[in-house]
Amino acid sequence: MVGPPGAGKGTQAQILASELSIPKVSTGDIFRANVSGGTELGQQAKAYMDRGDLVPDEVTNAMVRDRLAQEDARGGFLLDGFPRNVAQAETLNKILDDLGARLDVVLELRVDEEEVVKRLSGRRSCRNCGHAQHVVFDPPKTDGVCDSCGGELFQREDDKEETIRHRLDVYREQTAPLVQFYESEGILVTIAAVGDVKDVTARAQAALGRAS
Ligand code: AP5
Ligand code: ZN
Repeated sequence: MVGPPGAGKGTQAQILASELSIPKVSTGDIFRANVSGGTELGQQAKAYMDRGDLVPDEVTNAMVRDRLAQEDARGGFLLDGFPRNVAQAETLNKILDDLGARLDVVLELRVDEEEVVKRLSGRRSCRNCGHAQHVVFDPPKTDGVCDSCGGELFQREDDKEETIRHRLDVYREQTAPLVQFYESEGILVTIAAVGDVKDVTARAQAALGRAS
């Protein structure tokens, strides 16, 4: 999946991966788990993430290579948040070649920047399962508690308005060129990622059905 921060990649990836019975591989979630766990990888990534910059490619690519080699990814996987620039996309092609796998489809979620700022400034993320809710668009049943698992909801360090704006600049400069990259590989499908979550899911499923 490709799309700006706040496009709903994590939200949709969770639903689609569970329906397809394949693991969701979210580089942002893996980094955040490592930051909370205080691992060396987490220490390498934290400062970049807090500023809204990309973690260096060597670190990210090695992590993805390891993750995709795991047993549960053999029957397929859904990537959320990777690749994030053309160099990562080229490395991904090599990783997939080595695994004897290939990308079937790249789903682009399109949404405008003002909507993104509204979504991210109101987002509350679960410390336990990573599920994202929203103070207005998807308010938790109990204040501060994840509807999905009962874990504690918190505001991500990079969800402050100034950092959100910087992440959007990074997206425009480094990640948006991937749309062209995958269009030229003939595997890009684009949907509007606005409206109800379930309507976006239905659009994604229809687009994936047409592409496969
Ligand atoms: P990452 O975690 O990947 O963040 P991101 O791409 O900025 O995406 P977000 O998680 O912010 O948004 P999302 O599109 O998943 O939206 P969500 O579903 O939560 O990356 C974080 C950092 O990690 C990066 O800045 C970087 O430092 C590092 N990193 C990660 N991958 C990397 C890589 N490959 N290379 C280098 N560094 C990397 O939804 C957002 C909100 O909107 C939620 O509150 C949700 O409830 C709400 N919402 C969702 N859908 C709708 C809807 N249809 N209508 C209304 N509200 C909605
Ligand atoms: Zn949870």
